[in-house]
Amino acid sequence: MRYTEIRTNAPQEPNSFVGRERELDELRRLVGTTRALTLCGAGGIGKTRLALRILAGVTDDFPDGAWFVDLGDLRQPDLVVSRIASVIGVSEEPGRPLLETLADALASRQLLLALDNCEHLIESAARVCQRLLASAPGLRLIATSREPLRVAAETVWQVQPLGLAPVGASALEDADRYEAIRLFAERASASLAGFAVTFRTMFRKPHTEFYPEQKVPTAPRYHGRHQLNRYPDGLEKCIGCELCAWACPADAIYVEGDNNTEHERFSPGERYGRVYQINYLRCIGCGLCIEACPTRALTMTNEYEMADDNRADLIWGKDKLLVPAELETRR
Ligand SMILES: Nc1ncnc2c1ncn2[C@@H]1O[C@H](COP(=O)(O)OP(=O)(O)OP(=O)(O)O)[C@@H](O)[C@H]1O
Ligand code: SF4
Ligand code: SF4
Ligand SMILES: [Mg+2]
Repeated sequence: MRYTEIRTNAPQEPNSFVGRERELDELRRLVGTTRALTLCGAGGIGKTRLALRILAGVTDDFPDGAWFVDLGDLRQPDLVVSRIASVIGVSEEPGRPLLETLADALASRQLLLALDNCEHLIESAARVCQRLLASAPGLRLIATSREPLRVAAETVWQVQPLGLAPVGASALEDADRYEAIRLFAERASASLAGFAVTFRTMFRKPHTEFYPEQKVPTAPRYHGRHQLNRYPDGLEKCIGCELCAWACPADAIYVEGDNNTEHERFSPGERYGRVYQINYLRCIGCGLCIEACPTRALTMTNEYEMADDNRADLIWGKDKLLVPAELETRR
């Protein structure tokens, strides 16, 4: 490719562009009719992405190209001219203001110049634009800024937020219709495989009428609640060793062991778990405790009721965790 064939320096868009189809049609048309188009709007609303899209669509209409100048990192207003000149490839001439040299260089060109992020240098950007527009009839400008440049011939386009679902909308099965939701889902699924599906299920209306009478079994490898098991003769398997509590990354288990006596025997060995508590305000259901248990005293069930409206009932003691003796012997 010859040097002269390079007709735009616009950066590649970082990801897919969502929505704004009608806006883009109108804006591309406007670029043909207005000399200075300013895309105005709050930070993050999408001005830069819109400008890049417009550029991509109209570059072919400008024989001398479409050039993108990012002013975002400039701190000194008097450097606006040199930033533009270096992008277009115009060098300073000794003893002559660079703005004049730039204006001369652009005078006979048919070129689109996009100045991105003008707000913090607004006066300087406006002055430069005014000067260049005055001497270059074939020049078209696009600016992105949080406020208008206030130059003659400026058309201010207020950039609106991406379309949102109307307030009170409940049927989100067709969430794809709303641009902001589409953008959120696209970005989330790009970084987390399968998220788009999850996203749709997030907004599906839950069926609560059968809950909790008809429980759905947990998926394979998912855990429900804990259970402390017994031997067939009714004695407890837990020996109060505390290994489950040590293994728990959430500090959700509290165990106090004690000795069995000849008069009071709870487990076949010397010791048993006298106090055993699991705090379901902390438990994350990781299952490490059951891996750590040397006696298989602790296992996890398919029960997944883990919510309550008070703290005390979320700390389960042995009375709830230990399988009733009669049930264990029947199994
Ligand atoms: N239509 C869109 N499609 C895809 N991504 C978008 C769209 N609009 C905005 N974004 C993304 O949202 C973010 C903010 O957009 P952008 O940088 O264009 O906003 P801005 O108005 O120029 O913000 P600032 O005022 O801070 O410069 C970016 O990550 C951009 O990629
Ligand atoms: S499942 Fe995990 S977080 Fe819950 S008690 Fe066991 S080890 Fe702790
Ligand atoms: S449940 Fe298992 S690991 Fe935990 S104290 Fe009892 S025997 Fe030890
Ligand atoms: Mg921007």
